Amino acid sequence: MDKIVIQGGNPLRGSVEISGAKNAALPIIAACLLTGGWHRLNRVPRLRDIHTIRRIMEKLGTVFRDQDNVLEVNSDNLFLHKAPYELVKTMRASILLLGPLLARYGRAEISLPGGCAIGARPVNLHLKALAAMGADITLDHGYINARAKRLKGAEIFFDIPTVTGTENIMMAAVTAHGRTLLKNAAKEPEIQDLAKMLRAMGADIEGDGTDSIVINGVDALAACEHTVIPDRIEAGTFMIAAAMTRGEVEVLGCRPDHLTGLMEKLASTGARIVPQGDRVTVKGPDPVESVDIKTMPYPGFPTDLQAQFMALMCIAKDWSMIRETVFENRFIHVSELRRMGAEIDINGNQALVKGKGELLSAPVMATDLRASASLLLAGLVAKGGNTEVQRIYHLDRGYEAIEKKFRELGAAIWREQT
Ligand code: EPZ
Repeated sequence: MDKIVIQGGNPLRGSVEISGAKNAALPIIAACLLTGGWHRLNRVPRLRDIHTIRRIMEKLGTVFRDQDNVLEVNSDNLFLHKAPYELVKTMRASILLLGPLLARYGRAEISLPGGCAIGARPVNLHLKALAAMGADITLDHGYINARAKRLKGAEIFFDIPTVTGTENIMMAAVTAHGRTLLKNAAKEPEIQDLAKMLRAMGADIEGDGTDSIVINGVDALAACEHTVIPDRIEAGTFMIAAAMTRGEVEVLGCRPDHLTGLMEKLASTGARIVPQGDRVTVKGPDPVESVDIKTMPYPGFPTDLQAQFMALMCIAKDWSMIRETVFENRFIHVSELRRMGAEIDINGNQALVKGKGELLSAPVMATDLRASASLLLAGLVAKGGNTEVQRIYHLDRGYEAIEKKFRELGAAIWREQT
């Protein structure tokens, strides 16, 4: 397993290009199951999770061609409808295959995704909605078995605005018989990007980006070309890194309008944030003011940036309260940050961070994708030697060439084989 080594202390300076969004690319690639023909997807990030969904879909019969960040996808000849456990267990987002397989094929067998480090991550809302659309769903030996001659439109209310749940039902509904109304739908930009691609395929969808989405089923779809939106979580990670290292970074090829939740809080730390078109310039504050945050569904502060922001609060000058309201166990990075000298008290879904003004280098272990990002940021400022972040396969799931991008901004960071 590889590890990343960081010699902290360098302020980040320069510009960084943001990759396509992992959490938009995954449902968009899954949506290619809905029809035959060659789809052409641009700005697809080269990530472990993209490789995983590709391997699963290849087992179903989908064919891929790729050139740099362009991915071509063809599902003319699907011959299997079963997504195997040994692959699904490595990526929960495999649940996104359920809706399109059921819509195209009338049946699907997807291994029930287990929980993960950050929570139980149930998919009950996905299954309840598909059943409301006429699917016959059974759980058998750890697999979701779904059958439906033809899905029918339904009125669905999500108890929780689930992101992949909204995406799954959108994909199931585009060729269903009749109209589907999704209430309390998630509003993330990734959902709007999927809807844009589905419309390019001929789907009839309105209201994406709001909590009410209307999908009128159509009889046929066609392959399309689509360019994936930039990754707002990658962009936010670099913006927080610029603030932490008291540097000045221009984040290029991003969507500032997707980052209002973060930008407002980052400005409160004293950082200077200048959004301009498809870029944001961040100048780090000195000292860093302590700021309370509460994670919320979009457009609130993103849960996927909570761990990174906590690393920033560790070097602030006062106390800050961080509340995690989306997942039940998303403070795993705390114990590793404590190894670097952080003082953090956890009480349920609240973490009280005592800003110490600095962190100290240490060997630490990544436990999930965004926790590993927070440890890397901590390493960029840690004093007293090198920080080693182990198990960085977590990091490779969601960040394209991250140490190269940080090195180009002046960080002393490298990858070592162990
Ligand atoms: C998506 O996960 C993202 N993943 C996550 O990003 C992100 O953290 C999350 O949305 C919240 O924004 C992808 O898009 C591939 P949810 P998802 O369904 O869809 C509960 C990353 O780091 N829930 O919106 O799985 C659930 O337990 C990853 O890139 C149910 O109870 O999240 C959670 O508490 C991590 N039943 C809450 O809803 C369900 O059927 C929100 O989950 C579905 C969800």
